[in-house]
Amino acid sequence: MKEISPEIFYVGVDDYETDLFESMWPLPEGVSYNAYIVKGKEKVAAIDTVKIPFVEEYLEKVEKVTSFDKIDYIILNHMEPDHTGSLLKLLEKAPQAKIYCSKKAVAMVKSLFNLEENVHGVEEAEELDLGDKKLIFYMDPLVHWPETMVTYEAESKTLFSSDAFGSFKGLKEGITDEEVDYHGYIDETIRYFSNIVSKYTKYVKKALDKLLPIEIKIIAPAHGLIWKKDVKHIVSLYQQLADMQGEKSILVLWGSMYGNTKLVIDAVVEGIEEAGLKVTILDVARDHLSYQIKETAKNQGIILGFPTYDGEEFPPVSFYLDMMRRKNIRNRIVGFFGSSLWSGRALKKAADKLKTLDWQIVEPLLEFRGKPAKELLSQAKELGKQVAQKVKEL
Ligand code: FEO
Repeated sequence: MKEISPEIFYVGVDDYETDLFESMWPLPEGVSYNAYIVKGKEKVAAIDTVKIPFVEEYLEKVEKVTSFDKIDYIILNHMEPDHTGSLLKLLEKAPQAKIYCSKKAVAMVKSLFNLEENVHGVEEAEELDLGDKKLIFYMDPLVHWPETMVTYEAESKTLFSSDAFGSFKGLKEGITDEEVDYHGYIDETIRYFSNIVSKYTKYVKKALDKLLPIEIKIIAPAHGLIWKKDVKHIVSLYQQLADMQGEKSILVLWGSMYGNTKLVIDAVVEGIEEAGLKVTILDVARDHLSYQIKETAKNQGIILGFPTYDGEEFPPVSFYLDMMRRKNIRNRIVGFFGSSLWSGRALKKAADKLKTLDWQIVEPLLEFRGKPAKELLSQAKELGKQVAQKVKEL
């Protein structure tokens, strides 16, 4: 446990055991479940808890900060079990504590924990006086579930932001951006946003519009780094992500069954680099979908290379395209190349799917028969250049 501001303590835990977050998203550098204790002169509040396998470590940390009988309130910003999993164990130790959550969360508290008494559904901007500290609750529905809210502590100007501003990656090297270089967390913040939250981008924007006029000195999310020194940086990154603004760089995402489509990649990359942009290359069949989604959110230009399969796109590409729809990744500039032997048209079918997400399709779609001929490689280089040029002009 660590004090992040006078009488506000971090009591969260690191998880380096779980392989896949939500049983889908890899955690090569772990993840943290952040929880906090706010000690006012008169009242004490616990903000969020942690995933149940880590309850003992969590309770030990809480006890170092306050005796359990002094906890007056348990604030539940978000009902997902990575944050509420230890609620019943905390209540066993602190049965007097009253639960504060959003009105929409009240029914979830009943369904998940069979708790009705001592549960209070708060109003928008409702205040809770802790003595010299004051908590104010703001609803931010669908960032990430419909019941989600955030809690603002007015004296220290700390925003306990739940999943918003969060990231993958554990905090063993330090819990705030004063202790560690935040650059090591940026990619994992983008991955968390694009994998978990971006479906609800419209609501992220609404939440930012509501919260950013408030003076915020500390952002204390439910996962990942706590922002104190460079709050502006994480806010600006979040605004860019919510606006679907990628970097001026290109992702080449490719798949190849027998190597013909693969033969084109070097020429495409050469074209991108000649135009002066950075390129990231991922294999659609072998690099995890989590990183494909993240790199798509990060890069403004995408070039997809894949063969025709069963008269449609190569199946791992179908999965990727469907995730673009589900994760609502919009407004990218996209080029296509790929091999077919007899039927073709897969590139066109894939392009049509992306048009509904306002992706700008760069013509021509470079579909070819069998092995790419020499002229095709020049066209591929031109495709790389053309996509890069359009990204540069944005
Ligand atoms: Fe970290 Fe949506 O829970």
